Amino acid sequence: MTRVFSGIKPTGHVTLGNYLGAMRRWADVDQYRADSLFCIVDLHALTVDHDPARVRRLSRQGATLLLAAGLDPEVCTVYLQSHVDEHTRLSYLLECVATDGEMRRMIQYKEKSARERERGGSVRLSLLTYPVLMAADILAFGTDEVPVGDDQVQHVELARDLAVRFNQRYGHTFVVPKATGPEVAARVMNLQDPTSKMGKSEDSGPGIVYLLDEPDVVRKKVMRAVTDSGREVVYDRETRPGVANLLDILAACTGGEPAALAGAYQSYGALKKDTAEAVVEVLRPVQERHRELCADPSHVDGVLRDGAERARAMARPTVDAAYRAIGLLPPV
Ligand code: TYM
Repeated sequence: MTRVFSGIKPTGHVTLGNYLGAMRRWADVDQYRADSLFCIVDLHALTVDHDPARVRRLSRQGATLLLAAGLDPEVCTVYLQSHVDEHTRLSYLLECVATDGEMRRMIQYKEKSARERERGGSVRLSLLTYPVLMAADILAFGTDEVPVGDDQVQHVELARDLAVRFNQRYGHTFVVPKATGPEVAARVMNLQDPTSKMGKSEDSGPGIVYLLDEPDVVRKKVMRAVTDSGREVVYDRETRPGVANLLDILAACTGGEPAALAGAYQSYGALKKDTAEAVVEVLRPVQERHRELCADPSHVDGVLRDGAERARAMARPTVDAAYRAIGLLPPV
């Protein structure tokens, strides 16, 4: 059976981009068609300045939202990365096959390290090695497919390269994974700046719709979205990024096709109104389930405990095999 692995990091509140680009597919499709694991990758949240209490809070909220989005712990495995040591055990071995040049070429590293430096801060070493830990997340489980939004494709390609290189040097150990993306909404853009991604780690702002935003907040954010000069509703990501983003979101929420939907609108106002309502409707059931799950925190704890146990058992044989292959003596 196909093995699927994906993750989300608790660096900020979960956004509509996370949901449409990744989580919704995990819940609606991936968990049923594959033997799948979905992980709150909390170690990755430590690669930038963070408040420990906030990371703990967001990790729990992230896990609760994965369940609220429809992941069924009877069908798939949901757990926290820091509960399963195999991730960090394998990460070190992969650091021994990755190169520093490769790490410095990663787009997210370039962007995030530049931002840290602009703020006058220093860049943590773990930000540079982040993609190696991500490769370990994937490779530890013999993963075939990694369902992610566009921004993570380069990291998954690095995981592929490391798997191939390790296998060539030390003998076949890892399955070589591939990224899979959604047909629409692979890159949901910021409503106030449609040339940049709607990212949860950015400062909170009117351009980001959060999964737990109240309906009126969603409406306000969508109605105030920056559109382009011009009046006609056409789907062109290059010249009309604001309108194209709204059409992408509307299409992802209603199951339509962005270019075809454009033809149905004579004004930006009507497009915004329908998009806002479509988003509110998509979020409504997730928010309802989230409220129910919050009333019973011990349920989420139980899911995470069982999930970690299952994940450990799934990862250990591959990670042990990698230890032997690279030249380490097994413990006696
Ligand atoms: P993260 O936490 O930034 O995002 C989680 C998932 O949401 C997708 N996504 C988006 N999709 C469309 N439009 C957007 N605006 C948008 N913003 C985020 C991301 O592509 C991702 O699929 N490094 C990863 C987490 C990770 C991981 C892994 C993923 C760690 N280890 C192993 C897969 C496999 C990250 O920061 O995702």
